[in-house]
Amino acid sequence: MKILVVGGGGREHAIVMKLAESPLVDKLYCAPGNGGISKYAECYDVSATDIDGMVALAKKLKVDMVAVAPDDPLVLGMVDAMRAEGFMTFGPTKAAAIIEGSKVFSKELMKKYKIPTAAYEVFTDSDSAIAYVKKQNKYPTVIKADGLALGKGVILAENEDDAVAAIHSMIDDKQFGESSSTIVIEEYLTGPEVSVLSFTDGKTVVPMISSMDHKRALDGDKGLNTGGMGTLSPNPYYTDEVAKECMNKIFLPTIDAMNKEGRTFEGCLYFGLMITPDGPKVIEYNCRFGDPETQVVLPMLESDLCEIFKAIYEHKLVDLKIRWKSGFCTCVVMASGGYPVKYEKGKQIGGLDDKGQVEGAIVYHAGTKFEDGKFLTSGGRVLGVTCTAYTLQAALDKSYDAVSKISFDKAHYRKDIGQRALKATPEDPLELEYKEDMENYIEENGVYLRQ
Ligand code: AMP
Ligand code: GLY
Repeated sequence: MKILVVGGGGREHAIVMKLAESPLVDKLYCAPGNGGISKYAECYDVSATDIDGMVALAKKLKVDMVAVAPDDPLVLGMVDAMRAEGFMTFGPTKAAAIIEGSKVFSKELMKKYKIPTAAYEVFTDSDSAIAYVKKQNKYPTVIKADGLALGKGVILAENEDDAVAAIHSMIDDKQFGESSSTIVIEEYLTGPEVSVLSFTDGKTVVPMISSMDHKRALDGDKGLNTGGMGTLSPNPYYTDEVAKECMNKIFLPTIDAMNKEGRTFEGCLYFGLMITPDGPKVIEYNCRFGDPETQVVLPMLESDLCEIFKAIYEHKLVDLKIRWKSGFCTCVVMASGGYPVKYEKGKQIGGLDDKGQVEGAIVYHAGTKFEDGKFLTSGGRVLGVTCTAYTLQAALDKSYDAVSKISFDKAHYRKDIGQRALKATPEDPLELEYKEDMENYIEENGVYLRQ
């Protein structure tokens, strides 16, 4: 098969590298791609949000499948456009991608189908929103832009002044354009966060190995929220008991709910969860692979990713047995100094060839370009330095050792990736009881599952 992967970050590098392992794949293309991806896939300079341009590229290259990885083209309907031209696709249609594209949609879906999430209210004018937070008088409170906002549309307001300022800047000053003309104000939840990416064809849902992101820019979870500064997999807080509860109360009900709404979800559905004292709750849904979660999840995948994409498209996911490796995978993100606010680009990156690098280290490129035989920085998040090992500590040690071999001016990375996870103890693999519960659920609800 000839496959075009849409996107150009670390996540797409991980997808391309995994697809490259498949015997089913003859040729890989990526648009726009990046410096690292260009070693595995022929890259074309078409923007990920340029739907007409991407359809024209897919036609020109005569690809068999188009896998759309980032949120914006999915929410804009790139999969629909590709399907209309007869391409096999990976990724949800526009109707299903709304689960990430609109927080109001996802909150209403959860309320309607009793899927556990933070209590919330929706506002379109700042006076009522301010009156509401004043009346609640409970801080921190969480203020979210309805639409996509490059991962920056969530404010955790510590007091009334911050909440009022966030409401004004979102609704009145249109900080995120139309995305923030409607906002959601929700209850502040506490507990460890878990990311669970899942494969689904709308009938079967197969959770991937769990992961943990580190969203804040600085050590000790200080500083601004970023796209993610490091990840690890599996997440030790995601015990068998929690997994079982999530499957029964969140994953299957969500797939079911989307079907009932006439918005069948096919692709990768990402569950951003918080394990609260009252049990797991949904913080957010994403309609795509997470970044940098994918960089620790796909190296753990034993099965053929292309075969999975094909099975999802053909609604035959139930027939696959998806296998995962044992051990741990960790990814430390190296970012440009100043990210996520202001940073310089065009810095030469040293230490990227395999010579002298830690054996088995995978350096995923997020924001790089290859010019005149050199790799240069070209974005906020530059590299995701990824290693696997039998224990979490060993994987972290390897990742940090690999990071120490790489250099560029003003490079910034967190030194404490994995410290919180190291304190939690991993539990045993899935138990039989779990499987039995699943089968009962399936019988009652007509939604199928195969682990
Ligand atoms: P989101 O983009 O919705 O994932 O939010 C970004 C981050 O804000 C999450 O990873 C959480 O750390 C935090 N967050 C979002 N919603 C809540 C909430 N209701 N309570 C506590 N923290 C939250
Ligand atoms: N790492 C979080 C996300 O992909 O949304």
